[in-house]
Amino acid sequence: MRQIAKRGWSNRPRNGIAALLAWNPSAGLRTLGVVKPTTVNAVLAGAQAIGAQARLRGWVKSRRTSKGGFSFIALNDGSCLADLQIVADAALANYDEVATLGAGCALEVAGVVVESPGKGQARELKAAEVRVAGPVEQPETYPIAKKRHTFEHLRTVAHLRPRTNTFGAIARVRSGIAQAVHDYFRSRGFLWVNTPIITSSDCEGAGELFRVRGPEDDGADAFFGRDTYLTVSGQLNVEAYCLALSKVYTFGPTFRAENSNTSRHLAEFWMIEPEIAFANLHDLADLAEDFLTTVLGDVLRRHSEDLAFFRDWVDAKVVERLENVVATPFARMDYGEAVDVLKASGERFEFPVEWGRDLQSEHERFLTEKHVGGPVVVMNYPRELKAFYMRQNDDARTVAAMDVLVPGVGEIIGGSQREERLAMLDARMAPDTQEDLWWYRDLRRYGSVPHAGFGLGLERLVLYATGMDNIRDAIPFPRTPGNAAF
Ligand code: 4AD
Repeated sequence: MRQIAKRGWSNRPRNGIAALLAWNPSAGLRTLGVVKPTTVNAVLAGAQAIGAQARLRGWVKSRRTSKGGFSFIALNDGSCLADLQIVADAALANYDEVATLGAGCALEVAGVVVESPGKGQARELKAAEVRVAGPVEQPETYPIAKKRHTFEHLRTVAHLRPRTNTFGAIARVRSGIAQAVHDYFRSRGFLWVNTPIITSSDCEGAGELFRVRGPEDDGADAFFGRDTYLTVSGQLNVEAYCLALSKVYTFGPTFRAENSNTSRHLAEFWMIEPEIAFANLHDLADLAEDFLTTVLGDVLRRHSEDLAFFRDWVDAKVVERLENVVATPFARMDYGEAVDVLKASGERFEFPVEWGRDLQSEHERFLTEKHVGGPVVVMNYPRELKAFYMRQNDDARTVAAMDVLVPGVGEIIGGSQREERLAMLDARMAPDTQEDLWWYRDLRRYGSVPHAGFGLGLERLVLYATGMDNIRDAIPFPRTPGNAAF
């Protein structure tokens, strides 16, 4: 419990502060109207001088009463992980109301920034006025009480979980990653191309599609005159822009109706897909490495407070892992070599390892976590395992595909050099696919050049950057089989 005498507070303001703010409620009211609102982050970072007036808006994380007629309110506005401590004393006109506030109330507060004698923060706000902007009805029903909740429980209150430390931090890191992605591409001359969400090609081979129906029916009378789906990837469309504008990317929502209830799969997720012209698989691996290390480096620099929180509460190794990834060159190996390594490993895998079989996540995790101890790019997979658009290698049994595997998550990026030769492409497309994708084939007839691209799932990157375990916690409102409530 704090000692009031030690704090030196009395009900009257100390010298200096008095000159700034008359210590009565009506002055407080004036203050609320006059001072421009600021953020918790700005106050804690020292944007205001000690003794300056400040106005803040946010939500109560917690409040406790201290001896001598004080309330200490932890106020959070999302601008940073830390709360600002508001010291409210009995001189407030509405102190009786303030002294009953609980978690979740929305407040507007004005007062003076002072040095904090308490532990844990350098500054706090001595309130001159506290206005309850949004009270909490029936506080006993508020589901985010001040205690540790399981992530499972918080998924059932997805509308309120952003008020917790963990989900506030995830939201800031996710937004930071998205900004870093755009910064990365813009600074390197890539154009952001918005590819369609409703598509008529059902042939990408990347999982099951959700059907889109107009209000009437499907078939010939369908809204679009044909069957349509939610896109599984913007790749085929973005290739068209690549073969005109050289360096492009698409970044938007994608949908897969896979009935896989894993901690790595969502039915709706966001994908970042760069595509580069006059480029081969090695250029693509270089891009993937530079991109990941730059974006994660940016996250390390800008989100140190949130990352320290994840290190302390979620995954002790997360920061170390990110620093390693940024500092170490990625290993590269052929699929064939990966199979040899797995066979020689002496590990007992659940799924067999054989040339021609897909690598399962246990294999991918062994390669990245145990064999390499860092990110690894696995290249040149058997043709039969991969999509029709991947470029066939001269050995006639592999394609120029690559997956980037990272410790803790496994596959985070999938991509390839594209088949730019029409005859080779046609050999891998079924006749009705050729018909539907006539425009994609056209691109191989008019100015076709070697080009390559990859897809990165934003939520997998969020998992990697935060150390969170379940992809349902890496997106604000997750869509998985049986789950679209919010
Ligand atoms: O390997 P995928 O299926 O690649 C493509 O869709 C290509 N068209 C991309 C391209 O070359 N432009 O998916 C790419 C990445 C995966 O590595 C993974 O990070 C993520 O998308 N991903 C998922 N993330 C969450 N939930 C799912 N169901 C996902 N499926 C793929």
